[in-house]
Amino acid sequence: MTDPLKLAIAGLGTVGVGTLELLAKQDGLLTERCGRPLRVTAVSARDRTRDRGVDLSAFQWFDDAAEMAAKADADVVVELIGGSDGKAKEATEAALAAGRHVVTANKALIALHGTALAAAAEDAGVTLAYEAAVAGAIPIIRAMREGLSGNRISRLHGILNGTCNYILTTMRETGRSFDDVLAEAQELGFAEADPSFDIDGVDTAHKLAILASLAFGSKVDFDGVHVEGIRHITAEDIVHAEELGYRIKLLGTAEVTDEGLQQRVHPAMVPLGAPIASVEGVLNAVESESDFAGTTMLEGRGAGAGPTASAVVGDIVDIACERRTPTFGVPVSRLSEIASAPMERHVGPYYVRLMVYDKPGVFADVAAILRDHEISMEAVIQRARSATEAVPVVLTTHETRESSMMGAVDAIALLDAVHERPCVIRIERP
Ligand SMILES: NC(=O)c1ccc[n+]([C@@H]2O[C@H](COP(=O)([O-])OP(=O)(O)OC[C@H]3O[C@@H](n4cnc5c(N)ncnc54)[C@H](OP(=O)(O)O)[C@@H]3O)[C@@H](O)[C@H]2O)c1
Repeated sequence: MTDPLKLAIAGLGTVGVGTLELLAKQDGLLTERCGRPLRVTAVSARDRTRDRGVDLSAFQWFDDAAEMAAKADADVVVELIGGSDGKAKEATEAALAAGRHVVTANKALIALHGTALAAAAEDAGVTLAYEAAVAGAIPIIRAMREGLSGNRISRLHGILNGTCNYILTTMRETGRSFDDVLAEAQELGFAEADPSFDIDGVDTAHKLAILASLAFGSKVDFDGVHVEGIRHITAEDIVHAEELGYRIKLLGTAEVTDEGLQQRVHPAMVPLGAPIASVEGVLNAVESESDFAGTTMLEGRGAGAGPTASAVVGDIVDIACERRTPTFGVPVSRLSEIASAPMERHVGPYYVRLMVYDKPGVFADVAAILRDHEISMEAVIQRARSATEAVPVVLTTHETRESSMMGAVDAIALLDAVHERPCVIRIERP
């Protein structure tokens, strides 16, 4: 038996403790698979006194994760602290500078600093692995980087945030409001106390930027992602969507268009028959289109202690077995820089919900604005009527340029008979 692979784990929260538990439970299996044991030698977190439900007495404790990354008796530093900067970044940089491999679950870190960290890993001749950073247990990093490497990927989209998918699914199943379902999700532990990164789309954007880099061989460009969240989606929109043959999902979509690299995160209406429409609850899924493989979709658990630890340990096993791939599939020097396509130039059909007072002439005014912006309507639905209250009117359009749609919505919002700014949801092509 060869020497053990020594691990230092920074961060002992949900994923850190989950990883320790998996390593302990699967010890025999992992030793067999790696041909050598995996041994945790050191750990670090903020509060040494906290009871984490696992025995840490055999490990060297460090108050400072960066110090551990540089000095612990370890071959691999496993960064499970989180956050794009601060201690997570410091510890990762310290580990790479000390010639240690790094395994991380930190999408924010990779989305914002991935290219520089990959360069540092290359210089040090070590691995920087991050399978757990995108879609938890789903081996999507390997799929994009290795499994599909014989293909030109033209487009990918995914449900990358379980919290949002849970909220949208529960709203649809129960007819309850966004706020109500969010509050329940927080009580059940499916949503953070501060849920803004999830529900405002930032978490999905981090993951999308990483996937786009792998799919298109480009430098990670988080700043190029157009980001919208799901706060404005109502239970009524979800009902209208179903009536029109769609389901609303928070999607991250990346494709290379004539305008450049388009990366966008926003609620989208997907056709009910599309496989991604039936990915429900906390599940994640990523669908890609490529020239030889065609359409592929991977679905599974995107978060939680077990699924995330599964991905973390998969990366550790690769290191133990000396399976090495450049961080983003090719060396950093060969990653391209693709200009980002402005969102205003996006073209597609749209769903628009107006809240209008039922006054004579209001439809004529709306129709005139759409005509002036060269938007052609596909359907109009108005069910309710009220002499006193604003009622919903739903429009769908044919293919329209985003800049025209937003110009029209700005003008419609100014009409006296329109109660609030219209809700716009992009419809995805099948
Ligand atoms: N939770 C998931 O389902 C999931 C899924 C995929 C990816 N991830 C990613 O995995 C990472 C960890 O997430 P998590 O949910 O496990 O977070 P968490 O439960 O909040 O745990 C974070 C851990 O980091 C420690 N920590 C915080 N600041 C520190 C510092 N300055 N120095 C040393 N340790 C510090 C905390 O210490 P104390 O315990 O002492 O406070 C805690 O143990 C994040 O990057 C997250 O995005 C999480």
